[in-house]
Amino acid sequence: MADAVQTPQPTFPPRIFSGIQPSGGLTLGNYLGALKRFVEKQEEGIETIYCMVDMHAITVWQDPEKLRQQTREGAAAFIAAGIDPARSILFNQSQVTAHVELGWIFNCIARMGWMSRMTQFKDKAGKNSENVSLGLFAYPSLMAADILAYKATHVPVGDDQKQHLELCRDIAIKFNNDYKVDFFPVVEPVIEGAATRVMSLRDGTKKMSKSDPSDQSRINLTDDADTISKKIRKAKTDPEPLPDNLDGLKDRPEARNLVNIYAALAGHTPEQVIRDYAGAQFGTFKPALADLAVAKLEPITLEMNRLMQDPAEIDRILGAGADRAEAIARPIVDQVYDIVGMIRSRRR
Ligand code: AMP
Ligand code: TRP
Repeated sequence: MADAVQTPQPTFPPRIFSGIQPSGGLTLGNYLGALKRFVEKQEEGIETIYCMVDMHAITVWQDPEKLRQQTREGAAAFIAAGIDPARSILFNQSQVTAHVELGWIFNCIARMGWMSRMTQFKDKAGKNSENVSLGLFAYPSLMAADILAYKATHVPVGDDQKQHLELCRDIAIKFNNDYKVDFFPVVEPVIEGAATRVMSLRDGTKKMSKSDPSDQSRINLTDDADTISKKIRKAKTDPEPLPDNLDGLKDRPEARNLVNIYAALAGHTPEQVIRDYAGAQFGTFKPALADLAVAKLEPITLEMNRLMQDPAEIDRILGAGADRAEAIARPIVDQVYDIVGMIRSRRR
């Protein structure tokens, strides 16, 4: 950004933060692009903080009862996928008020021009931009606050969040410059693996999304084995067999997507998958992919269902996570108030 000048970076201890919106059920895209990788980061032994971003979810209308349900379901999905609430911090955003407090300060740092260039805003607002919420416009500045309230240094996300993370870097740099401090780290996006952008099963040029009107376009983490299998077998493809190298998938978005999904689920590279299935028809490849997807996803779905039997326990886990999150974020945001020049004289 024009008015953001890079300052030399002090070193910050590595800390991972990421979030998922409870705006619907989670999809295979969320699992491969985000959740699965969140678990890998936890296993690497880095400090990991994961958040159900309910404040972001309400930037578009959410039915209150469904929002509560989806927040619990999202948390259950994290745990079922391997997030251990004892080792990672797992909580919902609205329970830690430091996020919205810092979000407001960042609204005063970020520029209208930066925000209006956000492609996700433009996509979500469409032709209706006069009539969307102000929160939807400010969304990326709350996202920057989520991350920087913890001085997180690394943020694992899917490919669609890249631009938001660049904005987070710009906000950190401008804050540091404006107040002449080296307070916030400039975060590194962590966008890696074979499935950073899982596409719709109905249209290989569109992202798989929880908000797509067609349920056939996605695999939900709540789908049973039979549904997963049927959706994969019915996924749109072309009539050609699989090629013997990745170049052969260039103009075949649907085929490329299924190969990437296979690779991410199997923990292989797409190159390996193409080597194994060179010349195979979809009549062979799809059933193999369906079996693999069921083998990987069914245990998660079953565990999620089990956890959802006890919503009070999920709420307890989110509350305990929020306490731990607050212990980190509160002092950081208090220092921000000092830097900005707010009087803080209440006895607390
Ligand atoms: P959201 O559901 O928009 O809150 O996204 C939560 C996380 O999942 C973010 O890191 C996204 O980048 C990631 N994600 C969502 N959809 C996909 C997709 N189709 N492919 C890969 N990652 C995705
Ligand atoms: N905007 C992200 C998404 O829709 C969700 C999100 C909110 C997030 N705050 C975050 C992701 C902080 C990473 C870090 O996918």
